[in-house]
Amino acid sequence: MDAIKSLRRTFLLTVLLIFSLEGVAATVTVMVPQEVDVLGGGSVSLPCSFSFTGIKPSTVLTEWFIEEGGSRVRVGYSSGDGAGSDTGTPLSGRVSVETNLSLSLTSAKVSDQRVFTCQVTAGATGSGEGSTQLRVYVAPEKPEVTTSNQLISVTESTVSEVGKCSSRNGFPDGKIVWYKDGSPLPEVMEANNKLYMVPRVVREASGLYTVTSTLYLQPKKSDVKSSFHCRAIYSMPGDTSEHNDSPKFNLSLHYHTEKVTFTLVNTEPIKEGDRVRMRCEADGNPTPEFDFIKKEDDKDVSIPGSNGVVTLNSVSRSDEGEYLCEALDFDSPPSVELKKKLTLVVHYLDPISMPKEVSVALGGDVNLLCETKGSGPHRMEWRKGSKVLSQSETLYLSELSFSDAGVYSCHAFLLSIPTATKTGNLTLNVIGKPVIDSPSEAMVLKEGDLVTLTCSAQGNPLPEITWSHPTEQSESINGNRVTSTVTLHATAKILQGGVTCEATNEHGQETQRFQVAVGKDASSTPSQPGGGNPILTAGKQEGGSRTVVVAVVVCVVLLLLLAGLLYCLQKSGKLPCARQDKSTATSAESNPNDIVVEMKSEKANEEAGLLDPSTGKRPIGNQ
Ligand SMILES: *[C@@H]1O[C@H](CO)[C@@H](O)[C@H](O)[C@H]1NC(C)=O
Ligand SMILES: *[C@@H]1O[C@H](CO)[C@@H](O)[C@H](O)[C@H]1NC(C)=O
Ligand SMILES: *[C@@H]1O[C@H](CO)[C@@H](O)[C@H](O)[C@H]1NC(C)=O
Repeated sequence: MDAIKSLRRTFLLTVLLIFSLEGVAATVTVMVPQEVDVLGGGSVSLPCSFSFTGIKPSTVLTEWFIEEGGSRVRVGYSSGDGAGSDTGTPLSGRVSVETNLSLSLTSAKVSDQRVFTCQVTAGATGSGEGSTQLRVYVAPEKPEVTTSNQLISVTESTVSEVGKCSSRNGFPDGKIVWYKDGSPLPEVMEANNKLYMVPRVVREASGLYTVTSTLYLQPKKSDVKSSFHCRAIYSMPGDTSEHNDSPKFNLSLHYHTEKVTFTLVNTEPIKEGDRVRMRCEADGNPTPEFDFIKKEDDKDVSIPGSNGVVTLNSVSRSDEGEYLCEALDFDSPPSVELKKKLTLVVHYLDPISMPKEVSVALGGDVNLLCETKGSGPHRMEWRKGSKVLSQSETLYLSELSFSDAGVYSCHAFLLSIPTATKTGNLTLNVIGKPVIDSPSEAMVLKEGDLVTLTCSAQGNPLPEITWSHPTEQSESINGNRVTSTVTLHATAKILQGGVTCEATNEHGQETQRFQVAVGKDASSTPSQPGGGNPILTAGKQEGGSRTVVVAVVVCVVLLLLLAGLLYCLQKSGKLPCARQDKSTATSAESNPNDIVVEMKSEKANEEAGLLDPSTGKRPIGNQ
């Protein structure tokens, strides 16, 4: 007590002494911030300023101190003579005192986190000081998670270590929060059977902290789909906080299969030739291996599969039947059904049975039949080219002409799968004597001009064409049709008697007479087959029509005159030859063979064909 009182008295005395000496009261007040933050490795300036009362001091000394080993150590100073920094301090080489008295610090270290004191001594005016806490911050590295590669069994009744999260080299230490599917997990530090974390902080030799947290939890089967990660939360200058997330990871959970499915991958009904895929799936983790078996009669045949899928590249009806998949999960309890059945149905159609070739006489009828068998109901169709002729397995064709010859196809369609089809082809041959179907008249401008005649005949076998005036002929063949063309000089004989073309095959022959007339329009020499009646064809031609009509009228008049003359001569008995003609005609009536021999008209030829004994059929001529 006495000591303190005496000290007070001494202090009072000193102040009074100073006041009395200087005559004015004087004080020094130093101003520094309480705290300054700096990022590790960065630069910072610690401000310091002062104020005073009384006389302006003549000299001012500013010194910066730190606490080191329990005592105060100066690191830098500034006075009227200049500024400098002290050697042998932890800050040597990194600090300087500025003219505004701030302490500049570069390459901030974790160890720089300490109290800095700025002391100002102003001679007789006195001295003052202020202290600043420097805080250093270092952001940790991106957090990392290490997980055990071991599968975690969900059947365990206690927790398993799920992962360890490390946030390295931060300052100050931060903390770690665990996340599951984006939501933070509650922070539980006490060990239990469900979930907890064990945090740990290690101060590295560098002074930096490594923070770790180990997550323990009892996983559920549903956790296999969850994603986990950890987040490191740490402080930064200015009382802010930042965070950094680890990569996401999944739990390697192990659980046995509870359900097996065996399904057909194909969505459409299966037909022969299809590629079939059957998939077996099990919900265990890891996915078990599978065994595939085909049930055949009383034995089981093993089938290769890959990744739970059996592929049959081109199935046939023999692949139909029962298939079995077995999931080889030996952890599953016996109550779990690990075998699943699948019945494969393969639809099919047999190849169509039908003749390849059918031959029918011209004018005849035919009933074509095609048949097949299939795995189910099917429909049949007959076509020629793209034209549908019948919607059943039979096709009836009557009064066959040469144009009916050709390829007919029969198509079978399975009703359950319209894409399952079969096709067969049949060639129909129409056999018969030749039929000529070319126009039979031509025009020349004047006698002696060249005229081109075309004779076109159909027949099976292919007819042979001969002309009454042998000359060079050019012939073309198209299927059952042969077309022959000759070029002749329209001589008087030809103009009068015409030219005949004869088509012959083993079933008979047909003849056509070409009339060659002199007319104005000689250029329109018909050459297209398909005409028939020469009068009709001529009538259609504008240029030649008048000439033809005149010719016909003249002929009719001449015939009438001739008939009248003959009648008159016969009545008067002056014509023996007339009686001869009559007797031939009479005998012809009693002998049909003579008609065939004697009659040379086209009509006669057709009738001869009708009775042709070599075919035994009644071909219909071209009507
Ligand atoms: C003092 O001076 C230094 C360098 O000239 C500057 O970086 C710092 O901001 C100044 N401090 C104050 C408080 O003026
Ligand atoms: C985690 O699992 C999910 C679903 O099972 C999957 O989509 C994801 O890719 C997995 N993530 C990782 C990091 O393995
Ligand atoms: C039937 O003939 C057509 C052409 O005429 C051909 O495209 C098709 O391949 C043939 N089909 C069979 C089964 O021979």
